[in-house]
Amino acid sequence: MTKPIANHVLGIDAFSRVDIEDLFADATRLENLPAEQKRGMLVGRLVVSMFFEPSTRTRISFESAALRLGASVTGFSDAHGTSSAKGESLEDTVRMCASYGDALVLRHPLMGAAKRAAAVSAVPIINAGDGAGEHPTQTLVDLYTILREKGRLDGLHIGIAGDLCYGRTVHSLLLGLAKFRNIKVSWFSPAPALRLPESQQRHATLQGIDLQHVESLAELAGSVDVLYMTRIQHERFDASESKVALDSYVLRAAHVKNANPNACIIHPLPRVKEIATEVDLLPNAAYFRQAQNAIPVRQALLCKLLPT
Ligand code: CP
Repeated sequence: MTKPIANHVLGIDAFSRVDIEDLFADATRLENLPAEQKRGMLVGRLVVSMFFEPSTRTRISFESAALRLGASVTGFSDAHGTSSAKGESLEDTVRMCASYGDALVLRHPLMGAAKRAAAVSAVPIINAGDGAGEHPTQTLVDLYTILREKGRLDGLHIGIAGDLCYGRTVHSLLLGLAKFRNIKVSWFSPAPALRLPESQQRHATLQGIDLQHVESLAELAGSVDVLYMTRIQHERFDASESKVALDSYVLRAAHVKNANPNACIIHPLPRVKEIATEVDLLPNAAYFRQAQNAIPVRQALLCKLLPT
């Protein structure tokens, strides 16, 4: 493995372009290693997963990644079973878990929760999603998938669609893409309340991304190298006024099949109904491969944070 990285993973800006390339080289090496050679790599290390919000992929892939490297895992997937239900603060819960484990994987509904955790933790905090803030390890999985599917990370036209206001994966993805050269990003959101925030538009442009807004999902799907679909984050806003527009936000096979046959379709998942299941049958549909890529990418990250 290449050199360890220090401390916390709060946002994707913890990584330089070189760090990302280095991590991806490690992930590819891990993918190609026989399972028995990986089993001893993190023996004796304990990962604590602290999930204050629901998760399927992030929690289970982190835990699977750690267990398959020989680490142990403890923690919780429902904070109602912890003393935070009795009023314990996030900081005190983190202090306790940091004294029991070697790294904490934290998902929390509040933006900035990972930063608060890092301020009191003696062991690495991995931000597994903080409200509408960031989800940096999802971006690592997304970029690794784009590299695997398109063969490069420079010179790409990426389309992002969906809830660009509250979708933390998009926020981290834009920061991650800005580390690469000659990136064009086109975006579409199905309701005004879900537009990419002006501050993020300005930031992306300042960082060198050629950013443009498009008026329809069909236009977006027909023109990009990679289409990054996202679900509407219904839990973070009142969507009742936008119901009609949101109901018509669905990617269908016809959007891609003839219009843009080389497009790669990715999605951090969970999918709700924004990608019709008929799309799953197209070779362009890379979102389930993307979810599988979480294992080698998160394994590579754990090896860097928990060097033996
Ligand atoms: N992509 C992602 O964060 O999925 P989960 O919410 O299932 O972890």
